[in-house]
Amino acid sequence: MAELIKIKQDGRVVLVTLNRPEALNALNSQVMNELATELKPYDRDPNVGCFVITGSQKAFAAGADIKEMSDKDYMDVFHEDFFSGWDAFAKLRTPKIAAVSGFALGGGCELAMMCDIIYCSESAKFGQPEIKLGVIPGMGGSQRLTKLVGKVKSMDMILTGKMMNAAEALEANLVARIFPDDALVPETLKIAETIAGFGKASTLLARESVERALETSLQEGILFERRVFHSLFATEDQAEGMAAFTEKRKAAFKGR
Ligand code: HXC
Repeated sequence: MAELIKIKQDGRVVLVTLNRPEALNALNSQVMNELATELKPYDRDPNVGCFVITGSQKAFAAGADIKEMSDKDYMDVFHEDFFSGWDAFAKLRTPKIAAVSGFALGGGCELAMMCDIIYCSESAKFGQPEIKLGVIPGMGGSQRLTKLVGKVKSMDMILTGKMMNAAEALEANLVARIFPDDALVPETLKIAETIAGFGKASTLLARESVERALETSLQEGILFERRVFHSLFATEDQAEGMAAFTEKRKAAFKGR
């Protein structure tokens, strides 16, 4: 039973709210385990088409839990393969959207970047302040941030620990849209509903194809895309989507 995250399913959309307000949603091992284990059944459910991950008005998440980490030594983190559990969250196949208000720092920024899209509110502040703790990003920040915003802005954030506000994050292509604070979650849920209304196979494979662009050469990526495109002609949703267009009606996708 999840304690530090709240999960609410409404139709095909699953809203996940980080719920450690006393620690500004700092990401400890329990949060990580809950995200990895509790979301897996939804990920595999053809009736779930999108996740929305959010925090509170004050903090999406203020980072990995510094108090949990502070007494560890090298052999502890090496043997535990510390932070590797977060890969399970990143690898969820259902599209996931981060809705960020307030602080998204360190692991919080990294958690948002593990999602496929980030929307934020006007109060959002993104940062990788690990340098101030004598370490560096440990949940993919130096890699994902650099791929998203480029080397210069990534270096600026990671080497100085400075925060980016919402407008800067939009300008840097870290976030896709900014909403007023009160509108962030409702607007994100509407978008999630749109995504979840499409065929699950096509949304899942669309996100895999976009992800592939970050991992591979152009020619390999185009080949991957072509093969995936061909494979979707084996689905009922492709036949339905194209029939609905010609018959001038709304497609009723079944996730098959
Ligand atoms: C544990 C945290 C925390 C964190 C906040 N808290 N961030 N606890 N880990 N990352 C706790 C505080 O200790 C405090 O608990 C409570 O949340 C409220 O925080 P305050 O500091 O009192 O709030 P405020 O003054 O508003 O400042 C907000 C803040 C600041 C600017 C976000 O909390 C902050 O700088 N937090 C740390 C941010 C950070 O460095 N993140 C990166 C972590 S490292 P008490 O009990 O005192 O009331 C990381 C990756 C590590 O993410 C990778 C390396 C291996």
